[in-house]
Amino acid sequence: MVVLVSMFALIQAPLLQAAGEKKLEVFSWWTSGGEGAALDALFSNYKKQYPDVEIVNAAVAGGGGSAARPVLQTRLAGGNPPDTWQSHPGYELLGQYVEPGYCEEITDLYKSDGWDKVFPKALVDMMSKDGKTYAVLASVHRGNVLWYNKKLLDKNGITIGEKFGFDEFFAACEKLRLAGIHALGVGDSGIWASTQLFENTLLGVVGPQGWTDLFSGKMKWDDPKVKEAMTYFLKMQDYVNPDHSALSWDQAVGALMEGKVAFTSMGDWADGEFIKAHKQEQVDFGWVAHPGTDGAFVIVADGFTLAKGAPHKEAALAWLKSIGSKEAEEAFNPLKGSIPSRTDVDKSKFDAYHQWSMSGFANGKLLPSCVHGEAAPAAFQQALNDAVTAFIVDRNIDNFANALVQAAKESEADR
Ligand code: GAL
Repeated sequence: MVVLVSMFALIQAPLLQAAGEKKLEVFSWWTSGGEGAALDALFSNYKKQYPDVEIVNAAVAGGGGSAARPVLQTRLAGGNPPDTWQSHPGYELLGQYVEPGYCEEITDLYKSDGWDKVFPKALVDMMSKDGKTYAVLASVHRGNVLWYNKKLLDKNGITIGEKFGFDEFFAACEKLRLAGIHALGVGDSGIWASTQLFENTLLGVVGPQGWTDLFSGKMKWDDPKVKEAMTYFLKMQDYVNPDHSALSWDQAVGALMEGKVAFTSMGDWADGEFIKAHKQEQVDFGWVAHPGTDGAFVIVADGFTLAKGAPHKEAALAWLKSIGSKEAEEAFNPLKGSIPSRTDVDKSKFDAYHQWSMSGFANGKLLPSCVHGEAAPAAFQQALNDAVTAFIVDRNIDNFANALVQAAKESEADR
């Protein structure tokens, strides 16, 4: 196998050299311990075939792309694109990058590499416009997961079954509070992490149908159900670690591992942090669907694009082919916490968390995330973050709801 791979490299390398393309600039926000390790696995997989191509890792730190996306916008608007960048399907990819003409279509790769047979159509549709497809997925994350420190819960007599409702959750938080523990870990130095907590709580109250109705405009943002979710979110603030705004999302996961907090509601990139720290499933940490969201799977998928006018187009096309391969998916996802987006990957190579997530994806209601740019235009995503920031300070439910009603009206034109 090794011999075959390196022979292939010998054939490919001169082609790239001839075109003067020995570099590849990859833009992402994968810089935490788990994210960095998983990104390295993608680089190694690429390097096996293209050892002579120098990969420029242009990652910009800041979970959820909160700092990376503005940098990317400036580069794209200034005609200085990286060869390829990380993007979520749905509004983010189509509205922010395809619509203004920053992406080259890669539809042909779906035929040449057989991707049209192995990637779920619903996901490919979220990356396509007018029959043209603009990205290939590396992974599918689940956004609505509640992680916990197993030893800390055991010590405090708290057990979690297959499902965990709001009542049980708040009872556990109260028990922990009486034991002097900040129950809920949040690291919202990037506010999106708190917005994610709200997003998950909102879904837990309105349910999958309510979610679809909210983002299609059928349900209003001041609906009593939405306000009920806001009430829960407000109540959660009483159990949050006081240093939350000084921590990043992965530092909050770190605090959970150290037993400083018991829970964190976070997408399953958190699993990448547990894996990187060699923590053991069901011994050191456990997970359950965020309260009320059992049976629903909030999709946070990661794709890569091809820049229009990519400085190293051949190398970038080779990168995309490599990302979409079975080998890349098998190398990347076990480290990242995400499940493969291809349907033909060997499931036995994955641990118990991944098995749980794969079964949730196969059997659950799949819903796009707003926090991660899939469910609504960028302006609404931003307005939601701003409204959460204001709400944490003023704790006023009417202001929160009205801000979202207004934002939904304003973003109507972008739909
Ligand atoms: C999401 C992204 C994930 C993970 C997370 C935290 O937007 O899809 O892959 O990196 O941010 O940074």
